[in-house]
Amino acid sequence: MKRAVYPGSFDPVTYGHLDVIRRASEVFDVLIVSVLNNKGKTPLFSAEERVKILKEATKDLPNVQVDCFSGLLIDYARENNIHVAVRGLRAITDFEYELQLAQTNSKLSGGRLDTMFLATNLEYAYLSSSSVKEIASFGGDISQCVPDFVADMIYERYGIEKSQKTV
Ligand code: PNS
Repeated sequence: MKRAVYPGSFDPVTYGHLDVIRRASEVFDVLIVSVLNNKGKTPLFSAEERVKILKEATKDLPNVQVDCFSGLLIDYARENNIHVAVRGLRAITDFEYELQLAQTNSKLSGGRLDTMFLATNLEYAYLSSSSVKEIASFGGDISQCVPDFVADMIYERYGIEKSQKTV
């Protein structure tokens, strides 16, 4: 069984993430999307909420499981007997950080955790969770960025009424 983890903050999950999830789920027998519960950060959605959102957004993909982790990815991967992490690459600007992360994980795990990159679909290359939050916080249109139910949750979190949205 080829298993992989797709770790991330997913605060919130975007169509870019969902595209990577779908494509990685076609490569691996089981893909575990795992939300980082970073106690040092104040996210828009709690780890539990992000897990719930991801479960709903991936419910049509039978070999995708959703989980969360805290601490080091290599420890999570070892505990779950996973040897591949999947990450999406949007542009060259992602590359430096992602390469460093991949090499750090490889070194720290003694070569037991490898990283596979999927090039983000061009349609979503501009998308980031941070820009989605910023646009939504000003009542901008995020309908091209996240599924409708996620957009509703984000607007609600920012206290933006439907009538205030510039859609
Ligand atoms: O969606 P993000 O925020 O770009 O995801 C980053 C993530 C969660 C993959 C990365 O920060 C991570 O794996 N954090 C866990 C701590 C860890 O293992 N760090 C690597 C060694 S510095």
